[in-house]
Amino acid sequence: MGLLGSLAMLVLVVLYIGVLPHVKSQSTTTANGSSNSETKALDALLQDYAFRALIRPKTGTIYEGSIPSNLTGIKVAALRLRSGSLRRKGVPMYKEFEIPKGLIVRPYVERLVLVYQNLGNWSKWYYELPNYTYLAPVLGLLAYDGSNLSATKLQELDVNASGDPISVKFEGVNPAPNGSVAKCVVFDLQGLANFSNVREGNTCSTTQQGHFSIVVESSNAPPAPVSPPSSQGEKKSNKKVWIIVGCVLGGLAFLVLLSLLVLWVQKFKQKKKMQQMEKAAEVGEALHMTSVGETKAPAATVTRTQPTLEHEYAP
Ligand SMILES: *[C@@H]1O[C@H](CO)[C@@H](O)[C@H](O)[C@H]1NC(C)=O
Ligand SMILES: *[C@@H]1O[C@H](CO)[C@@H](O)[C@H](O)[C@H]1NC(C)=O
Ligand SMILES: *[C@@H]1O[C@H](CO)[C@@H](O)[C@H](O)[C@H]1NC(C)=O
Ligand SMILES: *[C@@H]1O[C@H](CO)[C@@H](O)[C@H](O)[C@H]1NC(C)=O
Ligand SMILES: *[C@@H]1O[C@H](CO)[C@@H](O)[C@H](O)[C@H]1NC(C)=O
Ligand SMILES: *[C@@H]1O[C@H](CO)[C@@H](O)[C@H](O)[C@H]1NC(C)=O
Ligand SMILES: *[C@@H]1O[C@H](CO)[C@@H](O)[C@H](O)[C@H]1NC(C)=O
Ligand SMILES: *[C@@H]1O[C@H](CO)[C@@H](O)[C@H](O)[C@H]1NC(C)=O
Repeated sequence: MGLLGSLAMLVLVVLYIGVLPHVKSQSTTTANGSSNSETKALDALLQDYAFRALIRPKTGTIYEGSIPSNLTGIKVAALRLRSGSLRRKGVPMYKEFEIPKGLIVRPYVERLVLVYQNLGNWSKWYYELPNYTYLAPVLGLLAYDGSNLSATKLQELDVNASGDPISVKFEGVNPAPNGSVAKCVVFDLQGLANFSNVREGNTCSTTQQGHFSIVVESSNAPPAPVSPPSSQGEKKSNKKVWIIVGCVLGGLAFLVLLSLLVLWVQKFKQKKKMQQMEKAAEVGEALHMTSVGETKAPAATVTRTQPTLEHEYAP
């Protein structure tokens, strides 16, 4: 059995070598939002288009912006406020956003503009979130200095809800598929995603500005891209190659071992047979099977005359 034992070890070793790289590469992928520079550029563009809607604006009135035709599907709005009144009173309803009192804006500006974004069907284009499905469009709320309404490429102000958090009440949220739980996702200004629970079926909370949506984890393995240009795709196909190589090697080793085993068993049997035949030859003579009609029966190949002692007992 020493032979069998070492054969089994060999099979295990081959299988292990095949599987190990697959296990290792699983922990190397990390989740990332989409390219931060693209969303930054979009924010700047949308700030420009939202501000264009503010021609001699009334404080506290929501103005809808127009959008270039290459971004049809995106909506923007602008709301100009005095920062003192924003802190004291908040804004009961700005589109989907409910801003409570206590919002602190830094650095101090006398007037600020809150730009609203609804990215519509461009949501997953700009805020790509691997392994998640959007159940609602990505909405943005960003605060800018409102002192110069023709200014472009403005830096966002720092916003902090010191009292109650800002609520985002999404409208027309797609239902989560059976067995999966919807989650709020917030992208901060660095583009990093953070998840939290959904309240009352459609509401998310935040203490900061940024981009918000409701997502659900894609339950089954996401469809693999056909020719992925990213390094992640390369890793995936690498993994596949390793699995295949492992399986093929394992299968080959198994086949080789199986045939070795069969050969060995055959040899063993032959040896036994030879030994038996030798024994039989020692006892008398080997019996050969001969067909007699339809049945088989042992028969002697050569009929020998019984040895007789001719000289001593001659009749
Ligand atoms: C997506 O899901 C697959 C399969 O569950 C996993 O291998 C991969 O690491 C995930 N990608 C990200 C970015 O989380
Ligand atoms: C992922 O995020 C990190 C940290 O923000 C960044 O350095 C990296 O370039 C991002 N990778 C991709 C593919 O976006
Ligand atoms: C869309 O068009 C505007 C104005 O024509 C241009 O500034 C912007 O770069 C374009 N954006 C994209 C994403 O093509
Ligand atoms: C979004 O829809 C508009 C038409 O409603 C279309 O022109 C645009 O290409 C779509 N955007 C994406 C990313 O599919
Ligand atoms: C407002 O911004 C525009 C564009 O950056 C600039 O040309 C203009 O001088 C600014 N006006 C004031 C009053 O700062
Ligand atoms: C926001 O305000 C709260 C309460 O004043 C404070 O505890 C928190 O550190 C602030 N957060 C930021 C990011 O400034
Ligand atoms: C989801 O589950 C409910 C009850 O568990 C069932 O009535 C419904 O048909 C399911 N829907 C889908 C799309 O599977
Ligand atoms: C995500 O949000 C939670 C709760 O607000 C916070 O504790 C955590 O640090 C955040 N994570 C990241 C990566 O921002």
